[in-house]
Amino acid sequence: MKVGDTHYRSIWLAVDGHTVEIIDQTRMPHAFAVERLTTLDQAAHAIKAMLVRGAPLIGATAAYGIALHMRADASDAGLATAAETLMATRPTAVNLRWAIDEMRTLLAPLPTARRADAAYARAGAIADEDVEINRRIGLNGLPIIEALAATRPAGRPVNILTHCNAGWLATVDWGTATSPIYQAVEKGIAVHVWVDETRPRNQGAHLTAWEMASHGVPHTLIVDNAGGHLMQRGRVDMVIVGTDRTTARGDVCNKIGTYLKALAAHDNGVPFYVALPSPTIDWTVDDGVRDIPIEERSGEEVSHLWGRTDGGEVTRVRISPEASPSGNPAFDVTPARLVTALITERGVCPATREGLRGLFPERQAA
Ligand code: MRU
Repeated sequence: MKVGDTHYRSIWLAVDGHTVEIIDQTRMPHAFAVERLTTLDQAAHAIKAMLVRGAPLIGATAAYGIALHMRADASDAGLATAAETLMATRPTAVNLRWAIDEMRTLLAPLPTARRADAAYARAGAIADEDVEINRRIGLNGLPIIEALAATRPAGRPVNILTHCNAGWLATVDWGTATSPIYQAVEKGIAVHVWVDETRPRNQGAHLTAWEMASHGVPHTLIVDNAGGHLMQRGRVDMVIVGTDRTTARGDVCNKIGTYLKALAAHDNGVPFYVALPSPTIDWTVDDGVRDIPIEERSGEEVSHLWGRTDGGEVTRVRISPEASPSGNPAFDVTPARLVTALITERGVCPATREGLRGLFPERQAA
């Protein structure tokens, strides 16, 4: 997407053809800083410390992390080290495992002399495929917004609530949950987005709000607890979120707090959509509540907040008593029964095993 007059993806290759460049998302929205990754460890750190985040971007960064390491050590041991190092970064987004498996399957049979070039080519293709997948998710989700717009009184926008950042910063471009929104804006449909702040790390306040503002999408930042109230008052027409792992039967794991939004949406008859690229489907898992590993992050993300003072200094402050411990589960699982439909690159389907397999028939045997 465009930042000012420049088109950016969230990850790209530098002009030298091998350094990987990313936008350091920990510094947003107060700074737009490009970071250069030249080693496996830097790529792993970028994922773990969340300079890059969002399931699809984590996958693309992992693919490039392997490519970086193939330049240094293309041996079988080097490939194993790269895969293990990256797998240990974050446990929940299945795109990480998917991308590592893709790279390993491609590289393992190749002679070592050919691995680095092949790794860069595949990492680049994964990034390009992600862009196209997300563009299609947008096109497939657009009719849902169009249909809602058709029921609105003239001049009333479609009110869409989203949680966390499933925008272009979470993918290589377009985003998943935001892609239908960007497509709707492009078609001149009036939309307004309720942006959940998304404690504890505030991806909504820091990233989604920034994306909406820089793209000129009407939006309002709200605290995480406001969504239920707004739904009761008829001020939300649909919810659309992304996902870090969706199971074969349609359970959806996403940023902590998503489940509560799905419950509130269910109680108020508000449709709850999940936008996802196929690499986010974990065909090996059915019961997401039981079987998806939930990342536990540092309690400091709960007890402290980052922000910019009115004087312009970006700083961190403590908001809880020193004596109070904090817990920080980073994701939760929304059972499939609370999901109105899944929006994928192949189309829209019910959040059921049959629905997913209907769109991905090659998975019948899985
Ligand atoms: O912890 P994060 O910021 O990586 O979590 C991101 C999310 O939960 C997104 O909603 C999800 O990855 C989908 S991104 C298209």
